[in-house]
Amino acid sequence: MGNRRSKISVIGAGFVGSTCAHWAASKELGDVVLIDINGDAAAGRSLDLFESSPVEGFDSRLVGGSDYALTKDSDVVILTAGLPRKPGMSRDDLLATNAKIVKQCSQEVAKYSPNAVLIVVSNPLDAMCHVALAASGFPRERVIGMAGVLDSARFRSFIAMETETSVEDIQAFVFGGHGDTMVPMPRYVTVGGIPLTQLLSKEKIDALVDRTRKGGAEIVGLLKTGSAYYAPSASAVQMAEAIIRDKKRVLPCAVFLEGEYGVNGLYCGVLAKLGAKGLESVPLLELNDEEKQMFNQSASAVQELVDALKKLDY
Ligand code: NAI
Ligand code: 2OP
Repeated sequence: MGNRRSKISVIGAGFVGSTCAHWAASKELGDVVLIDINGDAAAGRSLDLFESSPVEGFDSRLVGGSDYALTKDSDVVILTAGLPRKPGMSRDDLLATNAKIVKQCSQEVAKYSPNAVLIVVSNPLDAMCHVALAASGFPRERVIGMAGVLDSARFRSFIAMETETSVEDIQAFVFGGHGDTMVPMPRYVTVGGIPLTQLLSKEKIDALVDRTRKGGAEIVGLLKTGSAYYAPSASAVQMAEAIIRDKKRVLPCAVFLEGEYGVNGLYCGVLAKLGAKGLESVPLLELNDEEKQMFNQSASAVQELVDALKKLDY
């Protein structure tokens, strides 16, 4: 990345995309480009954000539009373009619509930034990672999905509330696909280093796990016109930061598994080490029989979606 400032492009300047730009710029991760089919909205949000920089005191150039030439030579690209599910739309309708969008965006990204690391956010997440991997032609090290950091952040928030402890002292992660079958891992949760299982009853922990699994729906139920974006964008930007600053962070991410955990040729959420190369390794966690069974069930749900995707024309 040399001496020049890093460059982060965010595709899709909606709620998640524009909030990603906000977090990334305010952390001075680099210069930020916002792209949307609605180029004026992307340009307007970028300019508005840039005009906040003298007040907030961050040095990050922000530009936006619909032309991918703006994204040339990005180090990291966060892909958030896609439609939310609308009334009357089946899961397969959404799958086909977003697959078309993600395919087109990934091709453009690869054309202008052949060495970028692509962080996929668009839903259905695990299936969209498959689309982005194929359309970009990038290796698995440079196409990584964001879901685990968000699902884990929700789990950590609920544990902090229940134990009345600082969120900073809660370590927790979630495995599996980004859906109802996700696998929060209470056996590995610590509160200031103390195992959660020593602090809370099984009933209380089960309730926190259940709330985590339904975390996305809880926000949709409250917002009514859209889905979560503050925690999702913070999570995508944490992954971008790990890559840009070569931090070697171990974060739960959707990774194209090649035999790890007995799964081959499928995106699924596991712990991943992120650094300048993108996915640098997949540190393996020991799972007990119950965890293995839940993880396999979640992987099967992702496989079903990927199989449905294969039958669609996009
Ligand atoms: P939004 O509707 O606010 O923004 C989506 C943006 O994509 C819109 O501005 C739209 O104009 C743009 N867009 C559509 N087609 C495009 C194309 N071909 N090229 C460029 N831009 C295009 O939606 P929001 O809330 O920002 O969510 C974005 C996506 O992220 C959704 O698919 C959502 O389900 C997903 N999501 C995933 C999460 C995860 O954990 N992986 C968490 C939160 C959201
Ligand atoms: C979420 O979990 C909608 O996937 C999104 O909030």
